Amino acid sequence: MPAPRPLALVTGASSGIGRALAGLLARDGHDLIVVARRGERLETLAAELRSQAGSQVEVVVADLTDEADVARLAGRVATEERLSLLVNNAGFSGYGPFAEIEADVLRRVVAIHVTTPATLVRAALPGMIARGAGAVVNVASLLALSGPLRLGMAGRATYSGAKSFQLVFTQALAAELEGSGVRAMVCLPGMVVSEFHGSRQLAGRPGMPPLMSSEDCARAIVAGLALGEVVCVPGFEDAPAFFERFRDLQQETLAAGNATGRLARRYGGDEAGR
Ligand SMILES: NC(=O)c1ccc[n+]([C@@H]2O[C@H](COP(=O)([O-])OP(=O)(O)OC[C@H]3O[C@@H](n4cnc5c(N)ncnc54)[C@H](OP(=O)(O)O)[C@@H]3O)[C@@H](O)[C@H]2O)c1
Repeated sequence: MPAPRPLALVTGASSGIGRALAGLLARDGHDLIVVARRGERLETLAAELRSQAGSQVEVVVADLTDEADVARLAGRVATEERLSLLVNNAGFSGYGPFAEIEADVLRRVVAIHVTTPATLVRAALPGMIARGAGAVVNVASLLALSGPLRLGMAGRATYSGAKSFQLVFTQALAAELEGSGVRAMVCLPGMVVSEFHGSRQLAGRPGMPPLMSSEDCARAIVAGLALGEVVCVPGFEDAPAFFERFRDLQQETLAAGNATGRLARRYGGDEAGR
């Protein structure tokens, strides 16, 4: 009997990076579970992938900011014995000045980038660890690294903060999973042409750097996984070396902050360090 095809679940597969990634994975021999709110888009994609790549494709219509929908999907993930890849890709920006953000937008941005990905990873891991194989991918953003930068764009505190959760969460998780046979990778795309926050309209405007295609971003995710990367930065040639240097700085900061147990002088600590 032929080995069962690996199964990948991709959230946010109705457009942009998720749609492109679903196509690549199907052509790469995966069966798929594709998730988003726009069911008709997912059905069209599923029909394409069945006929072009011979994949089995299941459509799950879910609002990933809705607790009941997420619980239902997490239950499905936890019991899917063939699941070899979980990709948390669904997202939206919710940009705007933080002091004016509506309570429900704040809740939904945190849900889609923080609570839901963590919930789905939590559901996927026990089975993957028991099988000694599998991978989880979180699609974050270069804005995860943007905290102190002045970028002259609409308020992004919640979005950037949520994306930086995905970065740190995935790096810590990857360390925790070492030796288990299960991998965790975070992708930090720069600006990509998709339906995200008007990126299609931004592409080609005077002063804008060239935007990457969703297809290239998806190719980086597949290649990054094959390379065993923990942090995949599609447009950055020297990212692996940069993240090593960054890790050294993080190590130095943690060591220095814990070195003496004494108050720093700029906070009123005295010469004797009391
Ligand atoms: N484009 C960029 O410049 C860029 C840069 C860095 C990072 N990213 C990140 O890349 C990921 C993919 O974005 P994209 O650029 O491909 O944008 P996109 O074309 O707008 O795709 C977003 C996907 O997320 C799904 N989604 C949004 N809200 C959802 C909800 N409440 N429940 C379920 N699914 C939902 C959308 O499907 P439905 O609307 O059908 O639900 C769609 O499939 C996001 O996490 C984004 O933050 C994008």
